[in-house]
Amino acid sequence: MPQLFSDDPSCFSPSSGSSSKNMACKVRGDMGKLLPVISFFLGAALTAAFVIATLDVNWRLSALASWNDGAQPAVTDEMKALAELTEVLRNASMEDGTVIMTSINRAYAAPGSLLDLFLESFRLGEGTEPLLKHVLIVAVDPAALVRCRQVHRHCYLLRRPEDAVDYSDEKHFMSKDYLDMMWGRNLFQQTILQLGFNFLFTDIDIMWFRNPLRHIAITSDIAIANDYYNGDPESLRNRPNGGFLYVRAANRTVDFYRRWRDARRRFPPGTNEQYILERTQAELSRRAGVRMQFLDTANCGGFCQLSRDMGRVCTLHANCCTGLANKVHDLAGVLRDWRNYTAAPPAARRRGGFGWTRPGKCIR
Ligand SMILES: *[C@@H]1O[C@H](CO)[C@@H](O)[C@H](O)[C@H]1NC(C)=O
Ligand SMILES: *[C@@H]1O[C@H](CO)[C@@H](O)[C@H](O)[C@H]1NC(C)=O
Ligand SMILES: *[C@@H]1O[C@H](CO)[C@@H](O)[C@H](O)[C@H]1NC(C)=O
Repeated sequence: MPQLFSDDPSCFSPSSGSSSKNMACKVRGDMGKLLPVISFFLGAALTAAFVIATLDVNWRLSALASWNDGAQPAVTDEMKALAELTEVLRNASMEDGTVIMTSINRAYAAPGSLLDLFLESFRLGEGTEPLLKHVLIVAVDPAALVRCRQVHRHCYLLRRPEDAVDYSDEKHFMSKDYLDMMWGRNLFQQTILQLGFNFLFTDIDIMWFRNPLRHIAITSDIAIANDYYNGDPESLRNRPNGGFLYVRAANRTVDFYRRWRDARRRFPPGTNEQYILERTQAELSRRAGVRMQFLDTANCGGFCQLSRDMGRVCTLHANCCTGLANKVHDLAGVLRDWRNYTAAPPAARRRGGFGWTRPGKCIR
């Protein structure tokens, strides 16, 4: 393996976060310097070339093989993509190596669509605007990347092999393309962990009004929101929703992800990843030694189980809702209600009487 960290031992550690340090250690597309670094992350996190399949099915195994021998490898597009991902994660992450991550396609990124509502919620929320500098937006098609760059600082294009499905249009729930997109997202999340970063994944149709990290226990390896919360944060009989998911980078959580996808084989083809998680989470967490926490819908909730208490809400998901236009319509209503609530004087807020307008297009 090539020599590691020859210049500065803390330079490439994702958790060495001060921005002056980041600047001093800034990677400038110097592949000679970058490759050993990436190779270190991957080598440390992996026993085999597993990550290659996870980052991008188009990745060539042979490239990695020569790479790990310390031979000077050809710099492929895939390596550049991984180098760029590592850099973008370092740019966006918090001091402890956590990044808030969401993903968009062209339809979600269009002006007036979900991306605008999502970003607006951070600006309207209480103490959420500073979190925007830790939000990484993963674009799944080039048009979404262009639009992301116009409105946000940390954008990354998830490249796809030529023959993969087109991700740019609205995906209908449970269609084949939808399932491919969701399992692709699952693989990508594992790659983030293998690069040593914790992530808080949030769907783009989730409004952020307060910082939800305060509700994630320091002992949790995985914390996940629920469509329906049963009142017990440790009960493995909760109904999780992978649209809002915190995962700590550790070998055991990577193992959890592998087992999660392995479990697909036990279900009929076409079963979605969320259903498989719900059915296997007790077994997977026990086998991988992972502690799961299920988040209260009063804090991290959504349309499925809508909490009336605006004093407690952190995030609000347009779940139990299909159709992009329906989501946009009802989430715009959510932002209106939030503005009305935050505009009221504290005494009026304490007296209560505020609440969400019924999400009438989503919930009929
Ligand atoms: C990381 O941040 C630096 C400094 O802001 C910027 O120049 C660079 O382009 C960023 N890298 C990526 C991959 O976005
Ligand atoms: C994680 O797994 C790798 C490869 O199996 C191993 O080398 C490393 O020591 C493990 N790290 C921890 C913290 O257990
Ligand atoms: C808007 O705020 C006022 C008080 O400022 C309150 O009386 C009213 O119920 C609020 N409307 C909604 C939809 O919450």
